[in-house]
Amino acid sequence: MPWLSLSWLGLRPVAASPWLLLLLVGASWLLARVLAWTYTFYDNCCRLRCFPQPPKWNWFLGHLGLVTPTEQGMRVVTQLVANYPQGFVTWLGPVIPLVNLCHPDMVRTVLSASAAIAPKDMVFYSFLKPWLGDGLLLSGGDKWSRHRRMLTPALHFNILKSYVRIFNDSVNIMHAKWKRLASEGSAHLDMFEHISLMTLDSLQKCVFSFNISTVHCQKPSEYISAVLELSALVTKRNEQIFLYMDSLYHLTSEGQRFHRVCRLVHDFTDSIIQERRRTLPDQGLDDLLKAKAKVKTLDFIDVLLLAKDEDGKELSDEDIRAEADTFMFGGHDTTASGLSWVLYNLARHPEHQERCRQEVRDLLRDREPKEIEWDDLAQLPFLTMCIKESLRLHPPTVGISQRGTQDIVLPDGRVIPKGALNVKGRSILGKKRGPIFGTHHNPSVWPNPEVYDPFRFDPENTKERSPLAFIPFSAGPRNCIGQTFAMTEMKVVLALTLLSFRVLPAGEEPRRKPELILRAEGGLWLRVEPLSAGPQ
Ligand code: HEM
Repeated sequence: MPWLSLSWLGLRPVAASPWLLLLLVGASWLLARVLAWTYTFYDNCCRLRCFPQPPKWNWFLGHLGLVTPTEQGMRVVTQLVANYPQGFVTWLGPVIPLVNLCHPDMVRTVLSASAAIAPKDMVFYSFLKPWLGDGLLLSGGDKWSRHRRMLTPALHFNILKSYVRIFNDSVNIMHAKWKRLASEGSAHLDMFEHISLMTLDSLQKCVFSFNISTVHCQKPSEYISAVLELSALVTKRNEQIFLYMDSLYHLTSEGQRFHRVCRLVHDFTDSIIQERRRTLPDQGLDDLLKAKAKVKTLDFIDVLLLAKDEDGKELSDEDIRAEADTFMFGGHDTTASGLSWVLYNLARHPEHQERCRQEVRDLLRDREPKEIEWDDLAQLPFLTMCIKESLRLHPPTVGISQRGTQDIVLPDGRVIPKGALNVKGRSILGKKRGPIFGTHHNPSVWPNPEVYDPFRFDPENTKERSPLAFIPFSAGPRNCIGQTFAMTEMKVVLALTLLSFRVLPAGEEPRRKPELILRAEGGLWLRVEPLSAGPQ
């Protein structure tokens, strides 16, 4: 048997069996990896020293648990942003640093970095993958850029124009329900509950031309219930770190339920796509859709069936399903959160509420029925300012998560080292707290940031401000593709709601709760009072 000389280690020669050799190679590889990792870690620590950091609990815990997804956590972030207005580093345990950027000048570099340099952090998004597949929100690289180009026309204002009627219809149906509930004079309502059903209803009509109104019926449709349940299951998983591993999650009853409900949602979307395709053989897709466009609203599925890339290639059925499901997910809760918080802010500021109402009354004075049309949207400047200020104070998406795949150099020369961190917000634990909320509450950008003041968005007052001071829809290549859709819907819904109802606080102050979107613990309760229809 050959002998292995280990005299250089001060050891006696040992028999060189293949196993021992393998062990030695393995140990050397492991040692090299540990050394490389230690070096990178040390190097990153040195580079991160130029960022301020709040005091740690201790070297082991770092800042773990400092920012919780609660009202208290939101207050801590506000304080941290006030103390470190350019940004700061926090440590999740001993080895995971997080760079929190909260100033437009700093955020600019990361937001405008190409999607390849600062791709999304997929830890959290991977929970959505079985549901949303390779839709825009989750895809990356060439697939994302090809689809983004193909989908942009789906939200062109010519298409959006025709959705305004749908928004009017959905909100009117919700109001009819509110009037029934307020037959005694007023009603206490959880805004999130009512408004998210309404936004789902209108999205379902815009995406699929699906016409069973969910706000009509006492119970939401099976599809809408499924979308709500999937969102709730993902939120719950996000809060239970031991369920982050797919293999574990699939074993739980919730994991199995998630997959069953995903199947239901996919079957619904597939059946609509199949039905549209079935009508093709006789007519040809282009002719059919063009003919349809003349008589009815082109829905999102129609536009996707029509879409072709530069080489004339169409989207597959699977792609269309992923994009449609992504729009349903990305568009309902966010818009509902935006609307719920603007109603809350106007309930707390009756003077602004009254001014908005007057603006809408003046606009619709001689019109019957009282409907908002596309051209009216530009005639509601104060109402738009109120929505924007609410999106600043209560951004529906408080943070976004990206990872640096290369070093990112900030304008002041400091470097965010590659890979070691989340540069824009959500921690690896999936808790959002990123640049959107931080930047919107930064006192060096927004004096008295906790005050609701719509006049900050008076065109006179926005001239000097960086466009990146206000980023509820994010910015750069991966900004929200649905932002005009969302602003249009919010304007229509708010205008018609203030025309028909007075909104008042319901008692206790809500406690903010950042989940997938910014909610309030136990719901966001307000009191609504129907207004008489006569001349005011
Ligand atoms: C007030 C309402 C809304 C807010 C605050 C909002 C906010 C955002 C934000 C911050 C992002 C970036 C997410 C990230 O980088 O991780 C995003 C992306 C996205 N949003 Fe929205 N959104 C809203 C409404 C909508 C609507 C109505 C739709 C669809 C009809 C939509 C569809 C999407 C999609 C598809 C993406 C991914 C875009 C991409 O990566 O290319 N959103 N949204």
